[in-house]
Amino acid sequence: MYTSKITGTGHFVPEKIYTNNDLKQFFDTSDEWIVERTGIKERRISDAEKNEFPSTMAAHASKMALKKANLEANDIDFILFSSTMSDYNFPNSATLLQDLLGITNHCGCLDVNSACTGWIYAMTMANSLIENGTYKNILVVGSETTSSYNNWLDRSKCVLFGDGAGAVILSRSDNETSKIHKSILSSDSTKKDDLIKKTGMARKPFFVDKENPEMVEMNGQAVFKAAVKTMAHQCASILEETNTAKEEVDLFIPHQANLRIIEAVARRFEFPNEKVMINVQKYANTSSATIPIALNEALEAGRLKRADKLLLTTFGSGLTSATLLLTY
Ligand code: UT7
Repeated sequence: MYTSKITGTGHFVPEKIYTNNDLKQFFDTSDEWIVERTGIKERRISDAEKNEFPSTMAAHASKMALKKANLEANDIDFILFSSTMSDYNFPNSATLLQDLLGITNHCGCLDVNSACTGWIYAMTMANSLIENGTYKNILVVGSETTSSYNNWLDRSKCVLFGDGAGAVILSRSDNETSKIHKSILSSDSTKKDDLIKKTGMARKPFFVDKENPEMVEMNGQAVFKAAVKTMAHQCASILEETNTAKEEVDLFIPHQANLRIIEAVARRFEFPNEKVMINVQKYANTSSATIPIALNEALEAGRLKRADKLLLTTFGSGLTSATLLLTY
């Protein structure tokens, strides 16, 4: 059996920024309310005129990852693309990304949608495909244009989200130190109505529902509580099942949805500030892109180095949750 290691990372965020104050043009809100409840100060918004879509943003991030991994595009032998909003119904965004990267080896391309947790789900699948010898270099991206389904009149939800893309190349490793130790994936369908977007798909296509502007439905407080509980539970389980002391974790990268959620989980493990990666203030919740973006920023800031232990955890619609422990 092989092991896998991260050989390249990259991220891309659109230039356009909506600060909390900018949102006042759409509805009654304040910077104080948003910062106090979420820690978010601004978010990036994709621009169709600049050709910013899930696949194109992912291409920018992936090119950066390929460069860092010192790989050619055709070295990629599988693409896993996590997104809550594809460019088209079909073909999938992974296929569009293959084209944008100039990959001509006809590698397999698969989209994954597990909402905000999708990128860790995809990393888990990629790790298995490398461990069993099927592939050598898998491109795993999370790329999201949440602004394309945000209802900009709904102040209780749209303030939370932003756009961006993160990419990671997971490669077969001959280095025993770097590896993925374990991941835990879960979904609690009894809570599926707590965070749901019904419009725009088979049951409620837009043309049937255009009179109803409601898009994302969310029971914010229920999601908040479930997020803290599930992420803390999964982190405790993964540390216990891998015999890892919490002090051994060098960097903790939780889903960037809300600063209060991040702090509540980090407090349970007494992780000091310098071990917790936070960028939610800049980008808000970019759904399945939050963790790969934060990972690349952590590396660029020198907060993570080879042989460090990295704990990643996330939650989202489903309600799903996913946690992964790796040695970088
Ligand atoms: O990936 C998963 C994504 N989802 C999440 O992470 C959501 C988790 N939940 C949360 O982060 C919090 O529940 C929220 C930040 C969404 C909301 O915070 P809250 O403390 O649960 O506030 P609330 O929904 O109870 O609203 C309190 C008040 C309400 O006014 P009234 O009814 O008390 O008069 C809202 O109408 O705040 C009002 N409000 C706002 N005021 C100014 C709601 N949104 C806004 C806003 N600006 N943007």
